[in-house]
Amino acid sequence: MYLLGFFLLLLSTSVQAIYSDEAFLTDWQLQNIGEYQCVFENENSQYLVTISQFGRESLLSFINEFNGEILFRQPLDFSGVDVMVIDNGSEFVIKDNNSQLRGFNGSTGFPLEKDVGGYDFKSSCQPSMDGFKLKNKTLQVVDPESELVVYKMDLWDNFQRIEYIYTDFKGTLKVLYSTTDSKYVFQLVKNGELISEWSRDESQSDVVAHTVINLPDSSLDSISQEIVQEKDTSNPWEAYNFRVNKNFQRFRDFLRRYHYSPGSMITEMLKTDDDASKEQRELEFGLAKYLVVATQKGKISALNIKNGTTEWSIESNLGNIILLQWFPDSRELIAVDRDGQYEFYNLTNLSQPTLIKKDGCSHTNIDTISFLEGQKFFVTTEDGQKDIVSFSSKAEKPLKHTFISTHDKRHIYGHVITDDDQLRDTWVTTLDDDEEIISFARREDTPTVNLGHILGNRTVLYKYLYPNLISYAVFNKKTGNLFINLIDSVNGALLHSQVHDDRVDPRMPVEMVFGENWFVYSYFSSQPIPEQKLSVVELYESLEPDHRVSDNSTQLNPLVGVHPPSVIAQSYFFPEVIRRMQLSYTKFGITTKSVILELENGQLIYLSKALLNARRKDESELTDDDKKEFMIMPYFSTLPINDHFIITHIRHLIMGPHSKLISIPTNLESTSIVCNLGHDIFCGKITPSGQFDIMSPNFEKGKLIATVIGLVFLCYFIRPSVEAKKLKNSWMVRN
Ligand SMILES: *[C@@H]1O[C@H](CO)[C@@H](O)[C@H](O)[C@H]1NC(C)=O
Repeated sequence: MYLLGFFLLLLSTSVQAIYSDEAFLTDWQLQNIGEYQCVFENENSQYLVTISQFGRESLLSFINEFNGEILFRQPLDFSGVDVMVIDNGSEFVIKDNNSQLRGFNGSTGFPLEKDVGGYDFKSSCQPSMDGFKLKNKTLQVVDPESELVVYKMDLWDNFQRIEYIYTDFKGTLKVLYSTTDSKYVFQLVKNGELISEWSRDESQSDVVAHTVINLPDSSLDSISQEIVQEKDTSNPWEAYNFRVNKNFQRFRDFLRRYHYSPGSMITEMLKTDDDASKEQRELEFGLAKYLVVATQKGKISALNIKNGTTEWSIESNLGNIILLQWFPDSRELIAVDRDGQYEFYNLTNLSQPTLIKKDGCSHTNIDTISFLEGQKFFVTTEDGQKDIVSFSSKAEKPLKHTFISTHDKRHIYGHVITDDDQLRDTWVTTLDDDEEIISFARREDTPTVNLGHILGNRTVLYKYLYPNLISYAVFNKKTGNLFINLIDSVNGALLHSQVHDDRVDPRMPVEMVFGENWFVYSYFSSQPIPEQKLSVVELYESLEPDHRVSDNSTQLNPLVGVHPPSVIAQSYFFPEVIRRMQLSYTKFGITTKSVILELENGQLIYLSKALLNARRKDESELTDDDKKEFMIMPYFSTLPINDHFIITHIRHLIMGPHSKLISIPTNLESTSIVCNLGHDIFCGKITPSGQFDIMSPNFEKGKLIATVIGLVFLCYFIRPSVEAKKLKNSWMVRN
């Protein structure tokens, strides 16, 4: 009885809050400034102000002098080429590339209202070296009167250039210099003592290409080997024997490891996770990855996707990298630039890349390059050539992919790959003179989990799952209309078309993603009110429930043509301007898909496909049966931004014009890693259907095991008394 009470007490203590916020633990951001064009100090000498290049424009940043952290960054809408500091830094004037002057407040960075055109412009960007000498990476401060060296300081070995320097000749020295590997080092000396020193790494700004390396998990290798061995045995008895033997061996090893002591086994089970087991678990769950990025300047770095630390980085000799691709089987990494030059790196040791080959391919002005199979790529050039290029030195299997479509501003082309890996043109769609393709999306080739969509009354709407589909958006300059078309990529046949005549703004981004049997696109229009819109188009075999057109017993010939889909479309208002869109990917595609959005305001959010549903109806039209449908919601014209779906939390991303959103599946079906690459780098995790395969961090292993052991003991004590009672009962003896 005591025991039971004790364990009930134990159980009741284990009830705790489950909610744990992972913000800022599983996500990270590299806040970049880029190459500093001009550095100066502001009025109260607490911040360094920098101007750097940001796309075609400039970025104004304030850096805290004491720790090197960014106070704020602000993209400017012009390209600044020079700066003049006035009034000791309480204000500054930026000269743009048209020699126009603009004034800014030195402590807030706000533009000034007043006219600064009358100033006699004198640049403050060149650090004045009066009173300083540079000798062998040593900085000397020379007293102006006596011309004696009053202070000496060693600079870093890879010192490149002084960006900012100041001394009052009374013991204070501040210096900011760049290094050859794009770091910026700040040192502050007071009375001969180094007060603070920090460095900022700007080498990873402006990412132009990326790839992901999955760190291999070797813990199950021995087991998979055993399974292979077991399969190879012809006699089932032998195989059974082999299995039992292996398992027994494993059990014996386990006992031996703990010296046959149950005590140490239980302590091991109760032990909280150490770093090694955490690392092993991350490998097993596919959370351990390297994000390899190439920057505009040709630097290739591997970042740990968990926290953004640099694992290795190399300086390539390539100019304008357009592609990075990882070949996991041969453990090779290839980097290709726009001039067709490429470099192969061997990564047998994942922490040490070695250059093994450097060459050029037959094309010199590559426009796009995409991976096909093996080491073969599909290349289009700026002068309109299209080709299949192999970077392998060995003979490779012919390609399986047979149909490819490409597009430029006014055409869509179909191609077929012949058996000998040659490209042949099949069809072409040409637009009118006034028309232009502004967005294009191919249906993703991801696994299909469910053939149909189950309605509230248990009938089924069959999804249109024909795989060779392309959707694209065409803007007509003359009429201002936006056409959305759906075509068959094998024969170019038009399957569906719809038009928006609500004064679409062609200067704003039009983005499109194509999921399983639906596509989503965003555009900005000025009618009825200027607003961002998000539309979804869903494709079904038929809109009549339980009616299936396709038939899985017959094979379809796409060359002959397929039956067109039945289409439902719906549009929503969205409160923020959308700059990029991407689908979320998970390992098996069971988790509800979601659409990840990069917003103009520097945030990243995701919207579940359940929200972006084309079948949402007004509440008054929903029947009782309809309401039973899984995740059904009534239609509201505006999709709200829920705080829980903001991936970046309070962070502000500065991504630039060529940012790229990616989603990387992990071995946990619920979890997908989302990264945004551009001027900054950001990565975080999303779980669009909740963390259904993850234990809460508060899961109490110890208490669970203790309870189980307690129950076993309990049974052990209670059993004799139950037996005795049974015996007494059968002899009808009263207690
Ligand atoms: C089931 O619901 C759908 C959609 O509301 C409706 O079209 C259909 O007629 C219903 N089927 C039956 C058998 O009630």
